[in-house]
Amino acid sequence: MTIKTIPIFHQFFEPISSTYTYCLASGEGREAIIIDPVKEQVDEYIQFLNQHHIKLVAAIDTHLHADHITGTGLLSKSQQCSIMMGKETAAECIDVGFSDGDCYDFDGIQFKAIYTPGHTDDSYCYYINGHYLFTGDTLLINATGRTDFQHGNAHHHYQSLFEKVLTLPEDTVVYPAHDYNGKTSSTIGQEKKHNPRLQVSNESEYVSMMNNLNLPKPKQMDIAVPANRLCGLTS
Ligand SMILES: [Fe+2]
Repeated sequence: MTIKTIPIFHQFFEPISSTYTYCLASGEGREAIIIDPVKEQVDEYIQFLNQHHIKLVAAIDTHLHADHITGTGLLSKSQQCSIMMGKETAAECIDVGFSDGDCYDFDGIQFKAIYTPGHTDDSYCYYINGHYLFTGDTLLINATGRTDFQHGNAHHHYQSLFEKVLTLPEDTVVYPAHDYNGKTSSTIGQEKKHNPRLQVSNESEYVSMMNNLNLPKPKQMDIAVPANRLCGLTS
């Protein structure tokens, strides 16, 4: 099978929350989508869209973030795009709420929503062109997203990882929502082999590891979560 590439692809990095945002399109002059935009960087995204003469049709978050304010609301206002997230997300500002397995064709970008609860109860991964997986905080490079707030659940996380994400082909390219060590992508095969969180022999081992991480709360959490329920449109 030939792999369908993504002709226009850019990975943006926001250094305060170490967030990756992705802009994808099938070619100049065509429609585009943005995954996990950060409010402070919206001008940068618009510049990129203009440079490539691409029209943003959807701003899509992988889950309701706790560590930064989303740019979906501002993008929707300025680009007249739809805001899309899983139907589980408790936010009235969302235009389209999709379900597990829903597929969309954004002008040649084949998009499949895979419901992967665990980090939060509204987490999704996005499988693009049958080869690229945008994992949000469900699967990070050499880590997995924490499960101790926003209705996180380590049991569900284990099932999402081992019954869904890790069953994809080993050469699937992984693009996470964050990396704190400068890594930009991985593959399912590499993560299966090297990710320390995935080297467990069963669900209860994973659950006890995740329940004993004792991580500090994200600095922006008390501001970010309520703001993101309004798609970042707080002022
Ligand atoms: Fe998160």
